[in-house]
Amino acid sequence: MSTTLIKNIGILQTPVGSHSHAGEEQGENRKLHDAAILIENGLITEITDEGRLPQGASGVDVTIDADYRLVTPGLVDGHTHMVFGGYRQHEIPMKLKGATYLDILRAGGGILDTVRKTREATEEDLVYKTSRFLDEMMGFGVTTCESKSGYGLDFDNEMKMLAVNKKLDERHPMDVVSTFLGPHAIPDEYKGDGDAYIDMVCEKMLPYVKEHDLADYADVFTEDSVFNYDQSRRYLEKAKELGFGLKIHADEIEAIGGSRLAGEIGAASAEHLIVINEEGLQSMAKGGTTAMCLPATSFYLGATFAPARRMIELGIPVATASDFNPGSCPSLNLQFVMNLACIRYRMLPEEVLTAVTINPACAIGRGDRVGTLEVGKQGDLVIWNAPDMEMLCYRFGSNLAAKVIKKGNIIK
Ligand code: NIG
Ligand code: FE
Repeated sequence: MSTTLIKNIGILQTPVGSHSHAGEEQGENRKLHDAAILIENGLITEITDEGRLPQGASGVDVTIDADYRLVTPGLVDGHTHMVFGGYRQHEIPMKLKGATYLDILRAGGGILDTVRKTREATEEDLVYKTSRFLDEMMGFGVTTCESKSGYGLDFDNEMKMLAVNKKLDERHPMDVVSTFLGPHAIPDEYKGDGDAYIDMVCEKMLPYVKEHDLADYADVFTEDSVFNYDQSRRYLEKAKELGFGLKIHADEIEAIGGSRLAGEIGAASAEHLIVINEEGLQSMAKGGTTAMCLPATSFYLGATFAPARRMIELGIPVATASDFNPGSCPSLNLQFVMNLACIRYRMLPEEVLTAVTINPACAIGRGDRVGTLEVGKQGDLVIWNAPDMEMLCYRFGSNLAAKVIKKGNIIK
């Protein structure tokens, strides 16, 4: 039995509960002053404030002095494409000469370029490379993340990517939730025939993924020149029937009905939503779908920013994530995402904290275990080089995570 005590916490700030927080509740955080937390065998067993120490504080194995700084739950990155071969820095000059994201994809580059490099990589290569990303993410304060497939686009390579997710979850301290994104692009073998590719994904891949428990969620890139509304719907209906949670890359570049579909089909989240229209917003509000907003992607693509304030007004739970991938967002820094959420989405610091903790945790099915600091939840937390959340939203470009604790163990 190992016990860890974190004492002298200046402000312990956390959302409360295991459910998604929408509307006014998005901005409701509990703030305890001069607090302490006791973690036993990886779980929080006591939280105190006003300088009182937990009853079990004597005889603990490890004591950490937070030095009167801010402590929050470990961050949750609810949307990443972190398993991939190669990089795509060669796209920078193309972009500077005016090529758009979809121009590059239509010319056989972009995602398809990463598919070629990912197919060449072995499972062990990918486990090694992605482990280093996980180390870096944890250094920024992330203790749980999601990871999508989608750079294999054939049976063997998609299953290889999902096996990487599984191994990382088992071997690395990070909790990794696996999402199947077989319909991420139309592979060369099915060029011009998205319907046939979706048929194959539904008949061969989805049942295998379910049977071998390789992913919790199924996702699709619903976009102009990629998968249309009908193809996305067919795929998601099959996934739902098999028992997957549902996600959609929707309204990233063109609004072709992805967010509307997300609400209609009861998706856990719709992601991107840069160009979402009122119909999509109303559908998501009705369907109880979380908006997984990705501001660093807007920043990197030079696009507009998702209407997060309108989403909060409509009672849609807002989460913000990195979208770390080699094309549209080559950054895994969730602190930068928090800065952008505040400055570009106009979200208040309390709303931002909810958007990087409990809301993404619920959107990846982990709200009962992580995302808040409460008795019974995992001892995942960050001690920040900051006195309050305002400082975290304000300073950008530096890493303010001083100490990162995962299940009571010091990671950083
Ligand atoms: O979420 N847009 C689709 N998928 C990723 C980008 C993948 C890539 O460009 O490699 C995204 O932005
Ligand atoms: Fe993405």
